[in-house]
Amino acid sequence: MDIEAEIRALQLDSAEDNNATLIPEDAKPEEVEMTDKVEEGMTDEVDTKSQPVQAEPKVKDKEVADMDCAEVPDEMESQKKRHLNVVFIGHVDAGKSTTGGQILFLSGQVDDRTIQKYEKEAKDKSRESWYMAYIMDTNEEERVKGKTVEVGRAQFETETTRFTILDAPGHKSYVPNMISGASQADIGVLVISARKGEFETGYERGGQTREHVQLAKTLGVSKLLVVVNKMDDHTVNWSKERYDEIESKMVPFLRSSGYNVKKDVQLLPISGLVGTNMKTRVDKNICPWWNGPCLFEALDSVEIPVRDPKGPYRMPVIDKFKDMGTVVMGKVESGSICEGDSLLVMPNKAPVKVLAVYCDEDKVRRAGPGENLRVRLSGIEEEDISSGFVLSSVVKPIPAVTEFTAQLQILELLENAIFTAGYKAVLHIHSVVEECEIVELLQQIDPKTKKPMKKKVLFVKNGAVVVCRIQVNSLICIEKFSDFPQLGRFTLRTEGKTIAVGKVTDLPSRSSA
Ligand code: GTP
Ligand code: MG
Repeated sequence: MDIEAEIRALQLDSAEDNNATLIPEDAKPEEVEMTDKVEEGMTDEVDTKSQPVQAEPKVKDKEVADMDCAEVPDEMESQKKRHLNVVFIGHVDAGKSTTGGQILFLSGQVDDRTIQKYEKEAKDKSRESWYMAYIMDTNEEERVKGKTVEVGRAQFETETTRFTILDAPGHKSYVPNMISGASQADIGVLVISARKGEFETGYERGGQTREHVQLAKTLGVSKLLVVVNKMDDHTVNWSKERYDEIESKMVPFLRSSGYNVKKDVQLLPISGLVGTNMKTRVDKNICPWWNGPCLFEALDSVEIPVRDPKGPYRMPVIDKFKDMGTVVMGKVESGSICEGDSLLVMPNKAPVKVLAVYCDEDKVRRAGPGENLRVRLSGIEEEDISSGFVLSSVVKPIPAVTEFTAQLQILELLENAIFTAGYKAVLHIHSVVEECEIVELLQQIDPKTKKPMKKKVLFVKNGAVVVCRIQVNSLICIEKFSDFPQLGRFTLRTEGKTIAVGKVTDLPSRSSA
């Protein structure tokens, strides 16, 4: 069997972005508010099935099977298209839901009759232009206010790839929901409005264009397509000057946020509302100066570093429920899973058996890194699992710790706050949300030389890079950033503001199970 083809079929991420300086150099802090709810909505009116049902031959029970899972030969699965999770991010009203909806329409997931129904509904709510967004914004509150609240989910396919769209909210009140969407994504589509005044509000301090880019990078979104949207608007009219102005401001900012612009970023102009330069390239009569790809082409050709499907199994749990056993939901960050595997639920070290694996709507024999799965388990009650727990390899379980060392970049502290030992914040790391306390500042890093400064550090201010020890009250499962970037990068938030981004640099030596 062609190993490369198999890895390609199973691979799906992302995180090994070597150039990634996690810490933005000139990170500008933004103000955000916080809601207490982080959850996701399923779109109910969109056909979310994108894969033919897989054959389900029985897999023999194995004691410790997670390491050899990927070796099970299966012609059908090796020919499977790759799968990528793509999160739509950007400032409120930039056109994320409209663009997501248009993608589904253009890829044949939504019929004309449904669009007509939405047109009527949007008109009745005096939100005529929002009908495309209604494809993604499925609940009443979202439709009435014209704002996404929960992360919308839908599936579509291009020539080479099956995509799951995660449509994040842009409003600053819903940043925690955006964080949850971005933490599941391999790539991001950053939607920017070119409309006069709108690009400016999104880009300035306090705008979510900046905050979303910084969060996405921290959360492991290694590639970005930057779509300059609303090019059809009468204040823009497919103006090259406007596009160039936006590009010239975005590129240095993206660079300072840790993106290698040449390798990891692609900019392109679109109209999400009209559907221009999306499935097919824009007509030269409309935009004579654009010679680059359309959105579908760009999505098709995004290259994500191959990840080893034979690594130790890691799947952070984002949700769980009861259904003929205990079902956990999450994204595979490393390794592969097969029916019949024996795994551990960490940090409680509970041995479990994999009864069934579901990818989207379909039951599958096995799944590799990057897939969003539902996994039915035996050996554990649903009450004994929380989001933030990690379904993990038995041979190499994920470390469970109450303390770790991290390098932090302070973005913006609350007014009058100083960052010192005793500082308390909420830690967001993969699907973990935990209160934490900074117990000791170890070293400050000189921003110019990137080397530790000699002076003992007792407190730091905005913009500082500092190495510190962080404690939590209960065991959490995390990894060193250098081992598993997706499980080792985090944000700290206080009173609804992102005050710092960081990466785990060290774990206590007795941390493993
Ligand atoms: P949040 O979910 O609230 O963050 O907003 P969003 O980014 O999802 O924006 P949404 O898709 O809801 O669109 C906001 C408004 O911009 C709606 O009135 C859309 O019709 C309009 N809009 C979106 N894309 C385009 C476009 O390409 N051209 C024009 N002219 N208007 C657009
Ligand atoms: Mg939206």
